[in-house]
Amino acid sequence: MAGTDLQTQVAIIGAGPAGMLLSHLLAADGIESMVLETRSEEYVASRIRAGILEQSTVDLLRGCGLGERLDREGDRHRGIYLQWPGHRHHIDFVDLTGRSVWVYGQTEVQKDLIEARNAAGQEMHYEIADTALHDVETDRPCVTFTDTQGRERVVKAEVVVGCDGSFGPSREHIPMDVRRHWERVYPYSWFGILADVAPSTDELIYAWHSDGFALHSMRSASVSRFYLQVPNDTEPDWSDDRIWEALAARLGHGQDGWALVTGRITDKSVLPMRSFVQTPMRHGRLFLAGDAAHIVPPTGAKGLNLAVADVALLAPALAELIRKDDHRLADSYSETALRRVWRCTHFSWWMTTMLHRGEDPFDEQLQLSQLRWVTSSVAGATGLAENYAGLPIGL
Ligand code: APR
Ligand code: PHB
Repeated sequence: MAGTDLQTQVAIIGAGPAGMLLSHLLAADGIESMVLETRSEEYVASRIRAGILEQSTVDLLRGCGLGERLDREGDRHRGIYLQWPGHRHHIDFVDLTGRSVWVYGQTEVQKDLIEARNAAGQEMHYEIADTALHDVETDRPCVTFTDTQGRERVVKAEVVVGCDGSFGPSREHIPMDVRRHWERVYPYSWFGILADVAPSTDELIYAWHSDGFALHSMRSASVSRFYLQVPNDTEPDWSDDRIWEALAARLGHGQDGWALVTGRITDKSVLPMRSFVQTPMRHGRLFLAGDAAHIVPPTGAKGLNLAVADVALLAPALAELIRKDDHRLADSYSETALRRVWRCTHFSWWMTTMLHRGEDPFDEQLQLSQLRWVTSSVAGATGLAENYAGLPIGL
């Protein structure tokens, strides 16, 4: 191994929302960190991702000085619409639970995080290669990588945190004999469409349809985001006309006078759907947060919110460990975080299976019955609202 040239208290692998927010929260607690990322800053700042923040995420971002643009540009929503042909129902989270959600793109959260960390002089290493973790079972773990000049670098740390998303190397460092994972792969994907057109709705529409699920979401007063259920391995090469026709049919254009307004499509992509949880989220001096430990299908928009909830628990736990040698919060991190992870895993699976078209006509009748119950019973609607608007952190 080359000579030690870098040193920090917490080595964070991955500059997605989990890694960047963790560095921000640690800095507020007086803990120094270094963030290591394979992609460029521009790439990380411009990835298109989901766009719904739950109440506790907004509270946390405001509480750590990241709420200013969110409060200016974000759009608070009281709830969502759930629909199936001939029916559209509003579920009002505020009436049901006193909590709401915000439309504010993850891309914007990421930009705010990068700006705040850059302003604070955060040490970042972008466009690195060959990230490898070492000695995580000792008190002096380290991370090696190759920098942009092709030099091998060594980072000695007190703690390593894997925030390296669904394909990163960190989760493999939990030894085989202690780790477990659970997975569900869905037989459909989402075709995501971004369009320069004002939303045709005031709040999100989740639509069940015999052609397949559709979602009308938004990014701003002039940008809409849509998703269509498609078979796995679909290429995002549909013509604009085909996309608008599918959206119009599934979202109910013409139903009760509602019209879908079309516009210029600026992005088309296909996203796979997967549920995945790996446990434990800590081994020795290695901790996992965000997509590195768990992935949810996007129905219900929990991915970013879960990543935020993880690091909200982890930052104080690491601060206690490093500053006071107090292991209690670090020791309970995995178990505490996993309670919320499994709740959101269940909720995301439940929303997904309630709304997506399958092969089985029996399932179809169950879905419609469930939709009728969720939209007509206060108990049913409250369950959805409580999960969608988000349970308090540390549940
Ligand atoms: N070395 C360094 N960085 C890595 C490596 C590696 N070997 N492998 C992956 N990364 C980086 C990725 O390039 C990415 O920028 O780790 C980062 C992980 O970020 P995200 O994928 O955004 O994951 P996370 O921060 O946990 O955020 C979760 O993002 O994926 C969405 O739906 C998900 O909204 C959720 C949120
Ligand atoms: C989005 O706007 O990208 C979005 C919104 C709600 C979801 C998933 C994605 O459930």
